Amino acid sequence: PKESEDNLRSPICCIMGHVDTGKTKLLDCIRGTNVQGGEAGGITQQIGATYFPAENIRERTKELKADVKLKVPGLLVIDTPGHESFTNLRSRGSGLCDIAVLVVDIMHGLEPQTIESLNLLKMRNTKFIVALNKVDRLYGWKTCHNAPIEKAMKQQSRDVKKQFETQLVQIITQFKEQGLNTELNNMDKEMRETYRIVPTSAISGEGIPDLLLVLTKLTEKTMVENLTYRNEVQCTVLEVKVIEGLGTTIDVVLVNGVLHEGDQIVVCGIQGPIVTSIRALLTPHPMNELRVKGTYQNHRAIKGAQGIKITASGLEHAIAGAALYVVGPHDDLEEVKETAMGDMKSVLSRIDKSGEGVCVQASTLGSLETLLEFLKTPEVNIPVRGISIGTVHKKDVMKASVMLEKKKEFATILAFDVKVTPEAWKLADDLGVKIFMADIIYHLFDQFKGYINNLKE
Ligand code: GTP
Ligand code: MG
Ligand code: NA
Repeated sequence: PKESEDNLRSPICCIMGHVDTGKTKLLDCIRGTNVQGGEAGGITQQIGATYFPAENIRERTKELKADVKLKVPGLLVIDTPGHESFTNLRSRGSGLCDIAVLVVDIMHGLEPQTIESLNLLKMRNTKFIVALNKVDRLYGWKTCHNAPIEKAMKQQSRDVKKQFETQLVQIITQFKEQGLNTELNNMDKEMRETYRIVPTSAISGEGIPDLLLVLTKLTEKTMVENLTYRNEVQCTVLEVKVIEGLGTTIDVVLVNGVLHEGDQIVVCGIQGPIVTSIRALLTPHPMNELRVKGTYQNHRAIKGAQGIKITASGLEHAIAGAALYVVGPHDDLEEVKETAMGDMKSVLSRIDKSGEGVCVQASTLGSLETLLEFLKTPEVNIPVRGISIGTVHKKDVMKASVMLEKKKEFATILAFDVKVTPEAWKLADDLGVKIFMADIIYHLFDQFKGYINNLKE
C-alpha cells in the first residue's frame, strides 16, 4: 500500500565477515573516508555506524541506469570486527540489522569467521548478499575506478576472467557445503532462490555501484513490512564509552521512534535500572563513522533509523546490548524501569530451575544471551545456575563454590570475554573452583568438555 511506502525508515545493514576481508575499506570507499587507516593494527575493535543518505546512494549507482526509486530515506550501515575475539560484537550487530553484506576475500574464500557470521545470519533468518572483495588482486587486473562490475570485467584479459571464474566456482562450492545456494549477481534477473554474489574492489571501487544497487533492491523488495516507520521508540545500546570533554556516553542505534534532548530515559544497568535525562544528542556528519572521534552534529530531536551518541549523567554502569526506553508523559516510571530490566529477566529465566549447573559470566547482555543460547543447544547441553555481567570477582567464585559438594564439575565459571581479578583466581585455586576463560564461545565448550572427561577418568 502506498501509505506505508511513504513512511519507511532507513534499513539497517550490517557488514560482516572474516578479519581483513575489507569490510571497513569497502565502507571507506563508499564514504570517501579513511577510517581503516586510523585503526590500531588495521583491525576493527568496535562496532560502528554510518548513515548514508539516499541521494548519495543514487549518485553512486547512476551509471547502472537502473532507475533506482529509493523509497527509504537512506541506509544505516553497521561495521563489525572480523577478528575472532569479537564474536559478541558480531552477534550484537547482526541482531540489529534488517539485511547484511557478508564480505569474502576472493583470494581466500570462506574462512572461520565467514562461517561464524553466516551461522549468525542463518539463525536470525536475515537476508544478505555476498561481496566478493579484492577482485583487483587477480593477477593482471586492469583498474576501472568505481565502474560497474560488468563494465570492468569487459576490460579484463582472458586470463583474468579465467582466474575470476576459477575462484568464483570454488567459493560457490564452499557456500554449498554450508547449505547455501549462491550465484553471481545478474542485474536483469530475478534471483529469489539464491544469494547474490557481487564482486567488488574496496581499493579501486569496481562493483561498488552494483553492491549499493543490489542492497537497496533487496531491502525494498523484501522488507517493506519491517521497514514501515513506527513511532514507538526502539533503541539499542551499542557501546558505553568515556569521551574526553563529554564524560561517559553511550552509542546507540535508534531503529524506530524519535529521541529528544531532555527526554527522560531508562537503560538496564549492572546495578539496576539507570534513570537519567538526555543532555545531548550527537551524530557524526552523514557519511562519517560514529565510532571515530570527530566533530559531531547536535540535534534537538532525531528520528530513526540513526546511529547516535548520547550524553547524560549516570551512564557508567549501562550494559551494552540492552534496550533504551523513553519515559513518556503518561508512562509510569516504575513500570518502565521494570521493562528495562526485563532483558535481564529473560536472561535470568534461562537459568536451570533444579539449582544445579555452572556459573556463566560475559561482557555484555547480548553476549550473555548468545552464550546461554549456545549452552542450551542439544549438542552442548550444559545446565546453568548462575549468571553475571562483567569482571569475575571473589563473590562470583564463592557463588560457584556452592556446587563443590553436590556436583564438583559444576563448580565452574565459564567466563566469556571478561577479566578475572587476581583475588578471584587465588580464591578459586584455594577452593577448587574451575574458571575457564575464552573469547570464542566454542572454546569454552571444548575446555569444559575436556575437564569433565578428565574428571570421569
Ligand atoms: P577487520 O575489521 O579487522 O576484521 O578487517 P576488515 O574486514 O574491515 O578489513 P580492512 O578494511 O581492515 O582491510 C584489510 C586489508 O585489506 C587492508 O590492508 C586493506 O587495505 C586491504 N583491502 C581491503 N579491501 C581491499 C581490496 O578490495 N583490494 C585490495 N587489494 N586490498 C584490500
Ligand atoms: Mg574493519
Ligand atoms: Na582489518
